[in-house]
Amino acid sequence: MAELKIAFFASHGGSNMQAVTDKLTRGGLPAKASLVISNNSGSGALERAKNEGIPAYHISSATHSGRIEFVSAIIELLEKHEINLVALAGYMKKLPDEVIDFVNGKVLNIHPALLPKFGGKGMYGINVHKAVIEAGENESGATVHLVNSVYDEGRILAQKKVPVLPGDTPESLAARVLIAEHELYPETIEKIALGEIVI
Ligand code: GRF
Repeated sequence: MAELKIAFFASHGGSNMQAVTDKLTRGGLPAKASLVISNNSGSGALERAKNEGIPAYHISSATHSGRIEFVSAIIELLEKHEINLVALAGYMKKLPDEVIDFVNGKVLNIHPALLPKFGGKGMYGINVHKAVIEAGENESGATVHLVNSVYDEGRILAQKKVPVLPGDTPESLAARVLIAEHELYPETIEKIALGEIVI
């Protein structure tokens, strides 16, 4: 199978991106972190990418005001870096359909709950963990799934469960789920690179 050339899209801290790149830089996998795109010029993800020597760009409505310009700027970068897999890692914008099509639907996302529960519009960040606790669930976790044009509805590729403990706050649950995310995302991308998960 061809080497994966991965573009990460991130808006905030980029800790999931870091977890994956840490695994990739250890070597031995036919996969490379080739590009990072963020819509937030101050994101930790851009900072981390620079530290890792990964080409990193801020692309947003501030840098490209029209939709066509915005989409073209992204596609140009994907083309230049020969990207064949996109990994969303806390990207807070909806990915344009043209971008999904450009990589033939090979777009992953990590969601901080056990989809199909607790997904969809508005279900991001701390909202997810609040909803899980309010629903009285006794387990939550992380899901890696394919992205299509409907929020959180693409094929589920892998999940990791964590318990919801008595006395959990949305913040304490988020911290436990984030640890699971940092294990699940690299493991899943490894399986894709090795052809053990086919997308
Ligand atoms: C993670 O909880 C991820 O599941 C969600 O956004 C958060 C991103 O965290 N989609 P980070 O930017 O990877 O640190």
